[in-house]
Amino acid sequence: MSFLIITSHKDSKPWVEALKEKAPDLDLEVYPEVRDPKKVEFALSWKHPHGAFRDYPNLKVIASMGAGIDHIIGDKEIPQHIRITRLVDEQLTKDMSVFVLSLVLEHLRNLAEHHCSKEWNPTSYLRPEEVQVGIMGMGVLGVGVAEKLIQNKFNVTGWSRTNKEILGVTKYHGDDQLQDFLKDSRVLVNLLPLTSETRNILNKHLFEKLPKGAYVINVARGEHLVEDDLLEMINNGHLSGAALDVFRKEPLPEGHPFWNNKKIRISPHIASTTNIESVTPQILKNFRLMQEGKNLENEVDRKKEY
Ligand code: NAP
Ligand code: GLV
Repeated sequence: MSFLIITSHKDSKPWVEALKEKAPDLDLEVYPEVRDPKKVEFALSWKHPHGAFRDYPNLKVIASMGAGIDHIIGDKEIPQHIRITRLVDEQLTKDMSVFVLSLVLEHLRNLAEHHCSKEWNPTSYLRPEEVQVGIMGMGVLGVGVAEKLIQNKFNVTGWSRTNKEILGVTKYHGDDQLQDFLKDSRVLVNLLPLTSETRNILNKHLFEKLPKGAYVINVARGEHLVEDDLLEMINNGHLSGAALDVFRKEPLPEGHPFWNNKKIRISPHIASTTNIESVTPQILKNFRLMQEGKNLENEVDRKKEY
């Protein structure tokens, strides 16, 4: 029974080192130089080449190197019986919370505008108590971001698929309550997983329901956003701007209209980056649980797609 590391977008070396250090006896294979594909039962993956898993007839579990698993389920050749796990990690949540807080504060204090204007032009600004931040996706990361914003005195609302209480957050759920959730969200933060239901959810119809001057922060996935709709709504003044960490095509292609738009803040998918040291124990634990035939931790519901 072996453990495969498979990725086309990340360097495998630091993963190999961390796994070897914590589990020296692990029978480790690294794609594409796999000695014995039949022995592979567990794969640790990030953006694997689609179709690559068909070479592993005894594969049982695919573990994501991140919180999201859209890069795995996007490969329609992966059989339904294969179990998928994702990362839930305190460091990932902390990093995301601080990142979103910094984007919200930068927007409210007009820092980008001051920097770009090259003029001495003091402007007024809103304080956290005066601002409602709406978070789409109240899962592990959404709740972490909500807590950080509440600590900093923001008014926070959240929207999710199912109803649940979260201390200090006005909660909305389901399609029926989406409009109510959006209408007072001066800042909208997207932290939804990418699924068939949420793909293209950040579109013109949704933006129109936000108050005039709203600001959009997308730290989830590029495919949530209809890019032309965002540009249209910024150009017609309905949205004051956006901060985007994720894109339909990454790296964001040279010459893409987002690059030169002063109202769009761009970061290269760094809102929260997996800390290998911190997540290796949970990955090895799931490998052991699989060997023992037990329930896995942070297993994804394949029907829900998250
Ligand atoms: P999670 O714990 O699975 O939470 C997902 C949340 O979205 C849940 O609250 C869920 O509702 C809600 N949701 C799912 N489908 C919905 C729908 N159709 N309508 C309304 N709400 C829906 O996920 P997470 O760990 O917080 O991560 C969220 C995403 O962040 C990841 O999937 C990944 O794409 C992204 N991410 C980005 C970065 C970065 O660096 N930019 C880093 C890490 C993660 P219920 O609570 O009702 O189930
Ligand atoms: C990063 O985007 C992740 O899903 O962890």
